[in-house]
Amino acid sequence: GDAEKWAQVDAWFTEKLAPEGPDLKYTLANNADHGLPAHDVSALQGKMLALFIKMTRASRVLEIGTLGGYSTIWMAKALPHYGSVTTIEFNEHHAKVARQNIDNAGLTERVELHTGAALDVLPMLKAPFDLIFIDADKANNPRYLEWAIKLSKQGTVIIGDNTVRGGGVIDSETQDPNVQGLRHFIQMISEDERLEATAIQTVGEKGWDGFVMAIVNCPSC
Ligand code: DHB
Ligand code: MG
Repeated sequence: GDAEKWAQVDAWFTEKLAPEGPDLKYTLANNADHGLPAHDVSALQGKMLALFIKMTRASRVLEIGTLGGYSTIWMAKALPHYGSVTTIEFNEHHAKVARQNIDNAGLTERVELHTGAALDVLPMLKAPFDLIFIDADKANNPRYLEWAIKLSKQGTVIIGDNTVRGGGVIDSETQDPNVQGLRHFIQMISEDERLEATAIQTVGEKGWDGFVMAIVNCPSC
């Protein structure tokens, strides 16, 4: 079927363009060993985040939702030596496994991992960040967007994961709080004059989903 073909094409491009080093392979294996859900971005998506960091010459990156640190590691490896990823994980077990994966990748110095609710941690962070990846509980995306803008400067890039959910995003009658949060997040982006945005649907090994990406234009922030 289509889903199988999408996964095969992902595997082909991954081998050509975004092969995972031992650190990323270890991360996925270690996550599975510790019962973490396979909700990581794909290798090609991780590489895309890495390229965005290089394209924008980002050095301060914020990630909301670490899980096992797979995307964290892709991003940290793309940074200059003086760069850093600040990443926030609510689940203590996930954070412990992420810490192992980050240490194993030799990125301990480049990653600041906070364990706790993002809405408690975000107020303690020092602005600004150059790139912000939002990939946690989608019901809170509207709050995360407000914080992302507060922690931005002119030109900051904000990226949201899982913004299509198999087409669920266009269901205005949805009772799923995650899809409701997602829809509100998109509505806020569309109404905010400081944000210039687009959405890209993706298919692949992770099914049918997508990213929203925005640039912050706020001369006064
Ligand atoms: C889920 C969350 C994610 O961030 C993701 O990339 C895939 C799935 C989930 O909670 O189902
Ligand atoms: Mg995600």
